[in-house]
Amino acid sequence: MKTTVLKTILSVAIIGVMVFSLSACGKKDNNTNQSHLDKVKSSGTLVLGTSADYPPYEFHKNIDGKDTIVGFDIAIAEEIAKDLGVTLEVKDMDFDGLLAALNTGNVDMVMAGMSPDDTRRKKADFSNIYYNALQDIIIRTEDKDTFNSLEDFNGKKIGVQKGSLQEKMANNQLKSSEIKGLGKVTDLVLELKNNKVDAIVVEKPVAKAYIKRNSDMTLSVPKLEEEGEGGSAIALSKDSGEFLESINKTLDRLTKDNIIEDFVVKYNQLIEE
Ligand code: ARG
Repeated sequence: MKTTVLKTILSVAIIGVMVFSLSACGKKDNNTNQSHLDKVKSSGTLVLGTSADYPPYEFHKNIDGKDTIVGFDIAIAEEIAKDLGVTLEVKDMDFDGLLAALNTGNVDMVMAGMSPDDTRRKKADFSNIYYNALQDIIIRTEDKDTFNSLEDFNGKKIGVQKGSLQEKMANNQLKSSEIKGLGKVTDLVLELKNNKVDAIVVEKPVAKAYIKRNSDMTLSVPKLEEEGEGGSAIALSKDSGEFLESINKTLDRLTKDNIIEDFVVKYNQLIEE
């Protein structure tokens, strides 16, 4: 008799714990019982996390005397905010802190020319790919004749952004080089100018943007093999459901009307102005 009562109490307790933890995993925010999409809509603000060191994707630009973050990622984010009927707020941080900011709720979404991969998919949900780019290596113009094959990078210092796909690629493919990771690409460019690194690995449009502005830098002829899924996607916190769907809808609209391509051209021009 006693054991039956004990068993009943125990099973009720176990079921209780299970129901509680199941509801905690759901898509709803515990405190407000709102989905993430509802939360963004009711707050009236969509907070974007980015690393604004990546022209033409996202970069700082003085506009009417004011430091502003612009770029084709930001223009796409503005369209998403517009479709949701909210205002966009942009937070600039190091690339390797972006997914953590998403998970602590410091930002609602991340756009930073970020390519999804298995490790990142464990931490975040990703939208459809909205842009594809290959990789390039930037070197000092004076070293143009030094680098004719990837072996010429042996024993050299290679700069990469911490936590980026390029860091992984350099570690895989330039095993005899010294790989140096920094938080911001703008700092990597300074290191290249000051002979602290001999090359930087970044996405092609970004490499082109930097060499256009700096005649003392150029593209290396040898290039790394492409790795991973490539392409850029928007990251959201896990289980974003309808939030993710609505973002994909905006991306579909922009892709269908070639608007993303127009943004890329526009922000490439803005870099030079
Ligand atoms: N595409 C690369 C990656 O996903 C690098 C992106 C760097 N983005 C930036 N805004 N700095 O790892």
